Amino acid sequence: MRLSGLALAAGLQLPAVLAHSSQKPLGPGLGPSLKKGSQPNIVFILTDDQDLHLQSLDYLPLIKKHLADHGTLYKRHYCTTALCCPSRVSLWTGKQAHNTNVTDVNPPYGGYPKFIRQGFNNAYLPVWLQEAGYNTYYTGKLFNAHTVENYNAPYPAGWNGSDFLLDPYTYSYLNASYQRNQNPPVNYKGQHSVDVLAEKAYGFLDDAVKESSRPFFLGLAPVAPHSNVQSFVLDGDIGDIEQAAVFSPPIPAKRHEHLFADVKIPRTPHFNPDKPSGANWVRSLHQQSQENVDFNDHFYRQRLRTLQSVDELVDGIFARLKKYNLLDNTFVFYTTDNGYHIGQHRLQPGKECGFEEDINIPLIVRGPGVPSKHVAEIVTTHIDLAPTILGLAGAPSRADFDGETIPLRRAEFEDAAVSRHEHVTVEYWGFAITEGKVFRKDEARLVLNNTYKALRIISKEYNFYYSVWCNNEHELYDIKTDPYQLHNLLHPDETTPATLLGVPFEKVTARLDSLLFVLKSCKAQTCVRPWQALHPQGNVQNLHDALHPRFDAFYLTEQRRVSYDRCELGYLLDAEGPQFETDGLVHRQGARWDEWV
Ligand SMILES: *[C@@H]1O[C@H](CO)[C@@H](O)[C@H](O)[C@H]1NC(C)=O
Ligand SMILES: *[C@@H]1O[C@H](CO)[C@@H](O)[C@H](O)[C@H]1NC(C)=O
Ligand SMILES: *[C@@H]1O[C@H](CO)[C@@H](O)[C@H](O)[C@H]1NC(C)=O
Ligand SMILES: *[C@@H]1O[C@H](CO)[C@@H](O)[C@H](O)[C@H]1NC(C)=O
Repeated sequence: MRLSGLALAAGLQLPAVLAHSSQKPLGPGLGPSLKKGSQPNIVFILTDDQDLHLQSLDYLPLIKKHLADHGTLYKRHYCTTALCCPSRVSLWTGKQAHNTNVTDVNPPYGGYPKFIRQGFNNAYLPVWLQEAGYNTYYTGKLFNAHTVENYNAPYPAGWNGSDFLLDPYTYSYLNASYQRNQNPPVNYKGQHSVDVLAEKAYGFLDDAVKESSRPFFLGLAPVAPHSNVQSFVLDGDIGDIEQAAVFSPPIPAKRHEHLFADVKIPRTPHFNPDKPSGANWVRSLHQQSQENVDFNDHFYRQRLRTLQSVDELVDGIFARLKKYNLLDNTFVFYTTDNGYHIGQHRLQPGKECGFEEDINIPLIVRGPGVPSKHVAEIVTTHIDLAPTILGLAGAPSRADFDGETIPLRRAEFEDAAVSRHEHVTVEYWGFAITEGKVFRKDEARLVLNNTYKALRIISKEYNFYYSVWCNNEHELYDIKTDPYQLHNLLHPDETTPATLLGVPFEKVTARLDSLLFVLKSCKAQTCVRPWQALHPQGNVQNLHDALHPRFDAFYLTEQRRVSYDRCELGYLLDAEGPQFETDGLVHRQGARWDEWV
């Protein structure tokens, strides 16, 4: 018999045998290295487009109570592509988007069909977790372009129980389509999508607990606080996105509609600033009118209201984990696919940019051994999540992962403080779209040259964002002195400082460019230890080391530069300029230090 959420809410006690203990038998396919009973349960909550920088977490008291107050907030956690589908495929596969080549939300460059075509349905986290002995459950949005037409062609692999949100109704808060296991889609007209998901989530948690011979992974991917979108037509023509997708602010549940009536977007220095900032199309945006700002404040409040259902979902999950006595053996991850901006740099509501709002996103982890009320400063990314979760499951890591495990326990944090990498590889191909209203005739809703590569690099000593756009414009923000990214030091209209970090400016940018040159096509360990590719002797581990004057000529004169031949909507190699060669023999695209010396 399936226990319903209502039975639990009514205080039904489960027999003790149903509760997981640390004495779990091993599942099939486990490596010999795994200690009996060492596999924890994992709950993974993935919201959609949730910001860190617009302070959404401040309005979620139950998430604070259950997660932040009993766990660790990773304040330097980054997605690597600020768009739903590429970010999610990277998350579940542990690979940068240039290695998945799922770079868009729709075909031909992205979406569920591209995920299938790239062969990932047999090579992503839930499949590996099942092999490691887990029962796996998922409800909510998996990928874009996973539709009421293609949901069974094929079914997503790796889930013991699933109930997916499907396009074109994924973002219809009050008319969602969910599709359970191998059944046909069901329409939930008039019900709130996140509340529907919560009941499904509690049901899967009950199922997972009943199947107590194996540990469980439960993925919950509510659509909040993504914009509401009407009828997304999926015929693969990029130009149609503008016509086919009607965006509006997210729709909260009735009981939350009245909240936060006086709340406004934080008026930070980069909110609708007097001067333009950034590069390319961002730099040509006009300052927003009061009418526009008022609408965007409303948009912001609707996001906070809509997130309240997620806050309650998290509360419901913790109530049940507690009742089942599972808290000591369960890790709960809370994150989102990408961030969001509203009004910063004069941008209309949306994502797809490389600014902190879009890429630096919430990650909170609670679990046995994870420090409470801790705020971690180390750099972590979405690419690191698959290795981390597989590591928790006790499964061997995979040689083709582009990330490394995230420290979770205190001792691991101490090691990471000295040895962890300091960079994030950020990449993007294709369009940027305004999800708010367009208030001016001369402002485009859809921009088609939003293709760029970027890196974030953060240490005690420095904090930079460096990017190269497909039109070969460059950006550099010194975030230590310019936390709001208002001064693009590489824009012709800005004053370039003579020195940075105490050395001539161009010596720093040369290093950053070479680092990006390696990262933009890195694979596996090279993505984690990129300086090793430039300095195979291992004498350079970070930007600080690379800045040594004896490498000046190597960086200033010997290296090819990151550049594009043209703007494309996908990862077309011949548009992407010179490539770093890693075969160890021919280096026509750039010298390595050991050969040059
Ligand atoms: C979950 O799926 C895996 C892989 O198919 C299978 O080995 C396992 O027995 C399933 N668990 C349950 C409870 O059916
Ligand atoms: C609601 O969803 C159903 C399909 O699930 C669709 O046929 C119908 O047109 C939708 N209604 C609206 C108002 O979008
Ligand atoms: C990029 O696209 C925008 C409009 O979509 C256009 O105004 C701008 O000129 C384009 N820039 C380049 C370099 O192609
Ligand atoms: C990525 O996918 C697109 C579309 O299928 C294809 O044209 C392109 O060549 C692929 N890029 C790489 C680097 O394989």
